[in-house]
Amino acid sequence: MTDWTLAFDTFEPEQEGLREALTSTGNGFFCTRGGLAWAQADGVSYPGTYTHGGFNRETTIMAGVPVLNEDLVNLPNWLLLEMRIEGEEALDRENVEILSYRHEYDIRTATTIRVLRVRDRAGRETTLETRRFVSMADMHQAAMKWTITPENWSGRVEVISALDGRVTNKGVARYQQLEGRHLDPVSPRTFGPETIALVVRTRQSRIYVAEAARTRIFGVAGQLDVGRDLYQMQDYAHQVLSFEATRGEPVRVEKMVAFYTSRDHAINEPLVNAGKAVGRYGTYAEAFEHHRRAWEELWEICDVRVPNDERVQLLLRLHISHILQVCSPHTSDLDAGVPARGLNGEAYRGHIFWDELFIYPFLNFRLPEITRGLLMYRYRRMGEARAAAKEAGYQGAMFPWQSGSDGQEETQKVHINPKSGKWEPDLSHNQRHVSADIFYNVWRYYETTGDTEFLLDYGAEMMLDIARFWASIAHHNPVRDRYEIHGVMGPDEFHEKYAGSDEEGLRNNAYTNVMVAWLSEIALEVLDLVPERRRQALRASIGLTDEEVEKWGEMSRKMFVPFHGDGLISQFEGYDNLEELDWDHYRREYGNIQRLDRILRAEGDDPDKYKLTKQADAVLLFFLFPEDELKPLFERLGYEYSTEMVRRNTEYYDQRTSHGSTLSFIAHAGILADLDPESSWERYMVALESDVGDVQGGTTQEGIHMGVMAGTLDLIQRGYLGTDIRDGALHFDPKPVGNLDGLSFPMQFHGTRLQIELKGKQLTVAAPADGQPVDVRVGDTAARIESGGSHTFDFGGE
Ligand code: BGC
Repeated sequence: MTDWTLAFDTFEPEQEGLREALTSTGNGFFCTRGGLAWAQADGVSYPGTYTHGGFNRETTIMAGVPVLNEDLVNLPNWLLLEMRIEGEEALDRENVEILSYRHEYDIRTATTIRVLRVRDRAGRETTLETRRFVSMADMHQAAMKWTITPENWSGRVEVISALDGRVTNKGVARYQQLEGRHLDPVSPRTFGPETIALVVRTRQSRIYVAEAARTRIFGVAGQLDVGRDLYQMQDYAHQVLSFEATRGEPVRVEKMVAFYTSRDHAINEPLVNAGKAVGRYGTYAEAFEHHRRAWEELWEICDVRVPNDERVQLLLRLHISHILQVCSPHTSDLDAGVPARGLNGEAYRGHIFWDELFIYPFLNFRLPEITRGLLMYRYRRMGEARAAAKEAGYQGAMFPWQSGSDGQEETQKVHINPKSGKWEPDLSHNQRHVSADIFYNVWRYYETTGDTEFLLDYGAEMMLDIARFWASIAHHNPVRDRYEIHGVMGPDEFHEKYAGSDEEGLRNNAYTNVMVAWLSEIALEVLDLVPERRRQALRASIGLTDEEVEKWGEMSRKMFVPFHGDGLISQFEGYDNLEELDWDHYRREYGNIQRLDRILRAEGDDPDKYKLTKQADAVLLFFLFPEDELKPLFERLGYEYSTEMVRRNTEYYDQRTSHGSTLSFIAHAGILADLDPESSWERYMVALESDVGDVQGGTTQEGIHMGVMAGTLDLIQRGYLGTDIRDGALHFDPKPVGNLDGLSFPMQFHGTRLQIELKGKQLTVAAPADGQPVDVRVGDTAARIESGGSHTFDFGGE
């Protein structure tokens, strides 16, 4: 491994799925796993190509009951390239001796590379170097290059170049019983002698996807005049290109691919445009140069430099590269949300969850136009959110826990427990907090960018209608003179209801209630921010009454937060009555107990009975809000808040948390940055290593974890530099841990580009480019950084 390369030097069948995910290539529009070009889905390899919004719904009949699921569809495999040397089968790892093997991911350009030296059964030795990328410069373009060098032979070679529409969704073992066929073939065709093309249509949602591939072969003296044989079926097309190869002379195969869907802008029809585009593509080298430059520009904006820790440096860049594969400037315009597991696997069916909360902070400070685009995905689905609220008897907008194509609730009603093989009810749609999280995301986007236009045109409407939802689901308890919310779940998915109860959900989840108290106050602020005329229009269009506005004020002061013991927040009301779990016993028995819910259920037990938590829930508040925001909020509610109370709660829940979602390491590392830097850094390293090391034992091959990858970057800025925004100024409260000395990165605040650098006990903020002056505060020192200026802050005293 070097700063910019993730490399594997042997082929390990059991690791291949994970490596395919880690070495995928994508451009924020579509993304393809890093498998061997000739591989089929065979239990070792899993070719997968996915695009934002490429969803399809299918019904599976399970035990006589129809179950509807929406999936992000695996699209035709454009990678297929095979090589046949005269008299041999097509090269495969089974029929050759592998003399050397290297699989690389070039982080800087998201390029998938393999170099193999092989000896076939006739003793012929060949070096094959393969490279591919999905272009960051031209969103519809992908390119492959093979360099074949016959080391000790000359002879006739055939290269097979194919587009394969016979693919299905079967990338996740747990979903095998669910319908995985999502594509219907439409038609293959050619565009001249060099280009094959294929169109498929998703079966239910009727999205057309077209791919066109032009394959050319070059020798040392230029393009070869090759023989071409065509084979075409409705769902599969290939060309066989044959030519003479000469010992020691490299031959280059270039497959240039265009990828279009019927959801694209500025097209006539996907197939027509794919054919037209591919006809215009230049060589691989030309395309790569454009692609490389587009990435270079992104690195200038997004790189985070950690010069004193090679491992941290490598992994942070790997994470940046993967985030940009899914969320790039191409994404802003696509009506895309962020699938929790990116675009290189099928886990969670490509759905969009609350994970945005962990992803946007990195984007807000670098590429805020992408966050804006992603927030618009939510805005456009307000209709569904309003209908969902209404159907449940509420007002305003209630967003779904899992969102897909049109924003209806996509959370499955049953899920399989891989430990027991049994289908169990899934109540997680009761995680209503997602609507509060979306509110939080809109507000933080606005605070970071000052994008008033967005706030007035879209953001305010979302926030107000979300606040309306909360005011309608909350009720006043006259005995306590407090507002309460019942029937919901917090982020901790191990507790879905009270043990033995028929009713879904819990009473007064502390995380939800505090978020609601906070957002009720902010909703009032938003109303004030909106100019009179727009305010009237907005109020009229959503039907907001004076009573509701008044209720927000009340809720901001009187939401109920359950406590037990000495300043201990109860995760939800009644938490203190639950039984303590014998953690040592389960650790001894099972080793990895992250998914204690599955273990307990497989034993016939019920996680609802115990004091155990999947991931940061109540304590997440300490991560999401800086002390100067949370303390006044608690005090306004009439509750105690102190650093000591934060410490006590964090310790208490840490001892009862299995960290069954890696998001939990992010939150705990963030909170501990202040309280226990050493322990914070330990958690940080777990989060940082979690995808590359597949700590959850097989989940990363089903798609990288966007929330954790982005969370590790957010932790640098929020957790360790203590970045937050107060009264329009940018604050830092550095807590350098680990080897962060020398840390530097660019960021953007209210449209002004800044360069941040940490050295010893000094933080330098520079504004290299033209822009508005920015007010920056570090501890008690304030400075106004003018365009072209900089300021070095001393912090930390002795
Ligand atoms: C976590 C959720 C998360 C989802 C998708 C689950 O395991 O508990 O909080 O939204 O994964 O990443």
